[in-house]
Amino acid sequence: MEKKVRVLLIGAAFSANLHMDGYSRCTDIVEIVAICDKDTSRISSLAKEYGLTNYAVYDDYVKAIAETDCDVVDICLPNFLHHDVALEAFKHGRHVISEKPLATTVEDAEEMVEAARKAGKKLYYAEDWLFAPALNKALSIIEEGAIGKPLYIRARECHSGSHSPYAQTIRYCGGGCMVHLGIHPVAFLLSLKNNRWTELVAMTSGGLDKNMLHNGMEGEDWSACIIKFEDGTSALIEANYLTTGGMEDVIDIYGTKGCMHIDLTFSSAISCYSIPGLSYTVEKAEVTTGWSKPAVDERFNLGYVSEIRHFMECCLEDKDAKVGLRGIDGLEALKVVNLIYKSAKEGIKITNPNLKQE
Ligand SMILES: NC(=O)c1ccc[n+]([C@@H]2O[C@H](COP(=O)([O-])OP(=O)(O)OC[C@H]3O[C@@H](n4cnc5c(N)ncnc54)[C@H](O)[C@@H]3O)[C@@H](O)[C@H]2O)c1
Repeated sequence: MEKKVRVLLIGAAFSANLHMDGYSRCTDIVEIVAICDKDTSRISSLAKEYGLTNYAVYDDYVKAIAETDCDVVDICLPNFLHHDVALEAFKHGRHVISEKPLATTVEDAEEMVEAARKAGKKLYYAEDWLFAPALNKALSIIEEGAIGKPLYIRARECHSGSHSPYAQTIRYCGGGCMVHLGIHPVAFLLSLKNNRWTELVAMTSGGLDKNMLHNGMEGEDWSACIIKFEDGTSALIEANYLTTGGMEDVIDIYGTKGCMHIDLTFSSAISCYSIPGLSYTVEKAEVTTGWSKPAVDERFNLGYVSEIRHFMECCLEDKDAKVGLRGIDGLEALKVVNLIYKSAKEGIKITNPNLKQE
């Protein structure tokens, strides 16, 4: 039998389900050896949903990491725990997959990158947008010159608010919609431009009573950033928690010889009108009655399936992930999000401190 990557999955909620879906589609190279969540009932539901039988159960990640013979620890926990769990995993010589954002602070993210380096292990940053088939097709259209040189990109992820209780408090999550949602377009654009951004300016709603809608949330519920890249391209990045009707992942690209509009969430080939409603249409849709665009294979189209396969193949070969999916890329995305917050708070334009030094 070919060698399989042994995975310890930590967390058994929403994002763990997205990852499990990916694992269930590459059982030729993956074995889930253990799952850890402090709420073990979530582990049983997840295992039941994916027909998993032979796995160990833990409610304490320190014990799980110490006792599990695995190749990689996959962290699907609230943002503030990514750092501690990753350091624990590197201490035991495991590779790590971290959900986004890499951490809640740049200092924590830097420590994670450094711990991976010291342990001689890989830190993989789970940015699913980089595997969305529509986005990759769009990039190949650019590559063939069909819209000329891209000049301006508008990219957003927006929905009506995070389901996670941890997303309400900055200490637990690191910010509001920009760190939760905007980090996808930020990471996508950074990977496209090899992290070579030059300047940015941003605004946010400001959090709590300054928010437009979510006044109990410490982080902002609306944010936008204009960012420029070394090659002259400009981009407008937006994230908000004001969007009802389902999650919007939309990217518009304007080039010298054409333009492209990419809709990752509402581009289903199916248009359905239902009086009783469907069991599911798209992520975060509040209602499913009337006209809808039910997603055909949402997780594949958002990139999660190929993302997991990529990480597993990297683990098998003990190699780094592609640009945009390495620990250092997660760190750069978090740095940019934090500078977006700084720009918004202080009302200033920020230039990339790293490019200035070169
Ligand atoms: N890539 C994406 O599109 C995407 C989508 C959703 C969430 N995420 C990310 O995934 C991560 C998890 O978010 P979520 O929404 O799946 O779940 P969540 O934040 O609601 O909670 C995750 C799980 O962690 C468990 N947990 C909390 N503290 C624990 C501890 N100390 N030990 C063990 N288990 C503990 C909880 O019981 C829960 O089941 C976050 O970082 C989030 O940003 C990414």
